[in-house]
Amino acid sequence: MPKTKDKPKQKKNKDTTPLADRADRYALYGLSVQEPANEAEFFTRTYKALNGREPRTLREDFCGTHAVCCEWVKLHPDNTAVGIDLDPEPLAWGKDNLQPKLTGGQRERITLFEDDARTKGEVPADVLAAQNFSFFLFKTRDALRDYFRHAHANLADGGIMVMDMMGGSECYEEEHEDIRTIESDVPGFKKFKYIWEQARFNPITADALFHIHFRFKDGSRLDKAFTYDWRFWTIPEVRELLAEAGFSASTVYWETTDEDGEETGEFEPATEGDADPSWIAYIVARK
Ligand SMILES: C[S@@+](CC[C@H](N)C(=O)[O-])C[C@H]1O[C@@H](n2cnc3c(N)ncnc32)[C@H](O)[C@@H]1O
Repeated sequence: MPKTKDKPKQKKNKDTTPLADRADRYALYGLSVQEPANEAEFFTRTYKALNGREPRTLREDFCGTHAVCCEWVKLHPDNTAVGIDLDPEPLAWGKDNLQPKLTGGQRERITLFEDDARTKGEVPADVLAAQNFSFFLFKTRDALRDYFRHAHANLADGGIMVMDMMGGSECYEEEHEDIRTIESDVPGFKKFKYIWEQARFNPITADALFHIHFRFKDGSRLDKAFTYDWRFWTIPEVRELLAEAGFSASTVYWETTDEDGEETGEFEPATEGDADPSWIAYIVARK
């Protein structure tokens, strides 16, 4: 019998659907902007430096896909995490896509609430995190102070609230785009472009409108995958409001640079920073 070597190979059916139509915006967002394992470790290190012991309970406000909760429960078998978000969609995405990577025991130590972070009460936490500039959605001093008061009430003794902030002169430019190439091992999405667009800044109110877009190698685009209508708060405004809300102290963690002036991705307490045109910092507030 002749071998079937010469039999023409069956062509695989190539999926011709544009990549933008196949894209999972939460997966792309996670690959582009989130480093939840680093965040969970930073919270632990910072709390330990202040209290001499490790934190065990995390409350992740505005948690979205609750990626930080998922990393938190991996750090220690007694770590528990509570995630709160108003939107059921990212919560469900995290349950379907991030939680399956955890053990059963880790999953049991996560509690999610589809609820309002401004009113939801829970067991007081050692660390309360509000990441990816989420509190920028509050547009007035009263609204932000009320949220900080609620956060303060939800912290245990010795507890810390951790928030990230961004700023710098570039952030006040309109129609400014920050474009990065992201690499991943997701089939079809091994290389794609992440675009952070500053669409509008109103100097009178400090209202700022941002969009996240994605562009793919087949030329297709996922425009306005996420849109944020924020007030662009400054660090001193936020620290003043934290004090008014009852926090005993707040510290700015500024990114360190190496001997060549390159950013290291490490953040240390600082009272003076360079006038970087585009910076990210953490504010750590103590109960
Ligand atoms: C900028 S996203 C950040 C998501 C996540 N923390 C991250 O790091 O990617 C803001 C999230 O806050 C949620 N959100 C907005 N207002 C809220 C509120 N009052 N209470 C709880 N979640 C809220 C939105 O649904 C959205 O998922």
